[in-house]
Amino acid sequence: MRNRPSLPALIALAILVDSYCWVATSAASPAVEDELRGGAGGRTMRRRAASVMVPITILKSAVSDGAVCMDGTPPAYNLDPGSGAGSKSWIVNLEGGAWCNSAKTCQLTKSSGRGSSDHMDKEIPFTGIMSSSSAVNPDFYNWNRVKIRYCDGGSFAGEAYDKDTGIYFRGQRIWNAVIRHLLSIGMASADQVLLTGCSSGGLAVILHCDQLRAFFPSGTAVVKCISDGGLYLDAVDVSGGRSLRSYFGDIVAMQGIAQNLPPACTARLDATSCFFPQNIIDGIKTPLFLLNAAYDFIQIVLSLAPDRADPSGAWRACKSNRTACSASQMSFLQDFRDQMVASVKGFSSSRGNGLFISSCFAHCQSEQLGTWNTKPGGSPTIQNKGIAKSVGDWYFDRAEVKAIDCRYPCDNTCHHII
Ligand SMILES: *[C@@H]1O[C@H](CO)[C@@H](O)[C@H](O)[C@H]1NC(C)=O
Repeated sequence: MRNRPSLPALIALAILVDSYCWVATSAASPAVEDELRGGAGGRTMRRRAASVMVPITILKSAVSDGAVCMDGTPPAYNLDPGSGAGSKSWIVNLEGGAWCNSAKTCQLTKSSGRGSSDHMDKEIPFTGIMSSSSAVNPDFYNWNRVKIRYCDGGSFAGEAYDKDTGIYFRGQRIWNAVIRHLLSIGMASADQVLLTGCSSGGLAVILHCDQLRAFFPSGTAVVKCISDGGLYLDAVDVSGGRSLRSYFGDIVAMQGIAQNLPPACTARLDATSCFFPQNIIDGIKTPLFLLNAAYDFIQIVLSLAPDRADPSGAWRACKSNRTACSASQMSFLQDFRDQMVASVKGFSSSRGNGLFISSCFAHCQSEQLGTWNTKPGGSPTIQNKGIAKSVGDWYFDRAEVKAIDCRYPCDNTCHHII
């Protein structure tokens, strides 16, 4: 079963995430990782979907603006040009892949593909919302689709240089330099634009959505954003602490992120709070779609039950296997789901916004063939509508989409990854 990764793979992932240096794996779930590596399932799907490998472009000219990866190498992107009716439409995807929060973890990230364009995979497959197949991706397949590679460790929002380690945190400069470059090669005359990204890339979407719209001042382009798996909550963990707040606080401080957070938020709250979507989504003026699993696998292992909040290991079985969760653990997770639903209440009341909060144990659902579309893999559905259809209906104003699933385990269309 391709949606059930092996336990060792899962534990390895959980350990990597727990040690806060989830750098070697893909932005997404183990299932996505398998797909990207061309695992058995992935290969079958890819052949059917005829998705192509997309080559990298290294943006050397950005270095003179100080827009560099953690190790000082130039930033990079992969572009699959649009065609026909899609040639004036652009999807800009911000690659995800965790963050780094300390000299130690950043040193590790720096010498990987998440911190250096010297170490990036040169060709990557575009799948799901990035796919060029009309069957997989009916609404966006012929758009210009570009993935901006993630090599700053701070959701494209940092502005700092660490003299002791010689590490650059230039996420915001990378964002500005690559967007300006894309404008110069055709995006300036776009009539439709969609910013997307998953995980730390999904958080980056929330942080940069209004900034992208500002690059299209004439107002003639439709600009919208979708954050996948980016709704990280400032939640209380299983030990009563706030593991993710402490982790995000380290990232914000080390990478000089405060200056790039929405001023309307930093005027009333501390910078770390303004790195949490729940405190900024109500102030975003550009239409935004939040796609998230209510039982987000990465939030369970990174935020709710990381090893340091669970020294006795009481959560170890549950966080790699949902059927091993006790009644009280499940009730803790149900409470987390309720917090997520509550966090989007105000956001939901804005007409242009969209929502798809599934009751799945998942993470990153838009770039997986299996979860993006009803064909060929079988997307999770809410009220009989899958993810690709929901996102398309929202983007093109075909229907209002404010989909919030009933509580686990009521939905039998999920692709649970634990
Ligand atoms: C998950 O947990 C259940 C209940 O404890 C157990 O029966 C099952 O074998 C576990 N699955 C895996 C893959 O470990």
